[in-house]
Amino acid sequence: MSFNALKEKGIDISRQLRTWHDIAHRHFNKVTVDCYSRTRQILMNGIEIEAWNFKHNIARLTDDEELLAFLAQTKRLEDAQQTTINWFAPADQSVLETTLGYEQVAVDLTAWLAQNEPDEYVKETFDFGLLEDFDHLYRYSQWAYMVHGINPDEIVQGKTDIMLSRPTQYHHNCNVLRLRKPYDKTTAKPQTKVNILTLVSGEQQTHNYYAEHGFAYGNETLRETYAEIKDVEEEHVTMYESLIDPTESIYEKLLLHEFTEVCNYYTCMRDEVDDKLKLVWEEFLAFELGHLQVAAELFKKRENREPEEVIGAEIVIPCHFESQKEYVKNILTTEIDKRLGTDKNYAKIDKLPDNWASYEVQKALGKDGAPTEMTIRLISEAKKRDIILADEKLKKDAPKLLAKGLEDKFQAPNTVSVDEYTKMSKEEFEM
Ligand SMILES: [Fe+2]
Ligand SMILES: [Fe+2]
Ligand SMILES: [Fe+2]
Ligand SMILES: [Fe+2]
Repeated sequence: MSFNALKEKGIDISRQLRTWHDIAHRHFNKVTVDCYSRTRQILMNGIEIEAWNFKHNIARLTDDEELLAFLAQTKRLEDAQQTTINWFAPADQSVLETTLGYEQVAVDLTAWLAQNEPDEYVKETFDFGLLEDFDHLYRYSQWAYMVHGINPDEIVQGKTDIMLSRPTQYHHNCNVLRLRKPYDKTTAKPQTKVNILTLVSGEQQTHNYYAEHGFAYGNETLRETYAEIKDVEEEHVTMYESLIDPTESIYEKLLLHEFTEVCNYYTCMRDEVDDKLKLVWEEFLAFELGHLQVAAELFKKRENREPEEVIGAEIVIPCHFESQKEYVKNILTTEIDKRLGTDKNYAKIDKLPDNWASYEVQKALGKDGAPTEMTIRLISEAKKRDIILADEKLKKDAPKLLAKGLEDKFQAPNTVSVDEYTKMSKEEFEM
């Protein structure tokens, strides 16, 4: 790869205004779209939301007129990019179908990042979060069937398994335990910085999507399921953002934001199979190179150092989507019983202290039962079992995995027990 973003001019920010027609008119077909075109669309919406949001936040923290002028000009541009991308989703794609897309992003993106992450500790954190989003995909898949009658495979298109994972009721932690050790900005690789910022953006937008759409259904248990999983996404944002070195200056952070946008568009453009989307990725890559130019100049002027010190001289590939079934299966079978440790580390359930702070949180939140457990009860009441899409061996191992993933010290009162699960998993699901 030889693409040095700092050497590319892109399109100047003075030439990035577009008409409403150009901003809003395109959309894909939810039936024929490639699942990874949809995941790119979902992720890039999150990247643009973060770009816009970040710029508003730093605009409230600075009196640097030159910086403020750049922010003022580009906030609108980031915002228009966001609209184009988000509104690629067609009007007839339901909230639950979109939700399956969001969790497919989380699973396959996190798995890719984990395998391309040079920092072992950051990688372990990605693997930890991966299993949680994998379980969300499983819980929401039951609802997509119960509410819309769709086979979740219509969305994930055989690329991602639908399978129970670390049960969602155990994703609720003391948020202080979620805090991780930040990387050191002077030694961390650009890949690490871009990987984390990409994932933070994705998780933050997943949270926002559930926050804005969870009420769209009348079913009480589904509403509560959205509320429960949304709360986990809030924890994910806290966890992943805490990996970022907080001592980076706003100029350094701005540079990293523009570079992250460049890297993501570059990857999307390279990988895209949908012609309409590809043109947009290409155009927006050129826009972001224009943003990066200005951010790099500002960085040089204010910090008296070279942008290469922060972002290197080569493009990073943060969002390549491909089937990650094998990788996910491996993490699932070895780490389903992993929990957040007490020293910003990780521990297996049997090594947790009796006074582990997350027990209190799980007891308080799960007192009335977990909506995500009720989800499995509801579908098994109607269909004798849950929907699982995985190879036969993994399917067969599901009860054993559940037994490994449950905590002895806390189980929500409506927890599907290993016995109940073993019984239901002997049935066939009739689609
Ligand atoms: Fe942007
Ligand atoms: Fe999730
Ligand atoms: Fe998540
Ligand atoms: Fe940008």
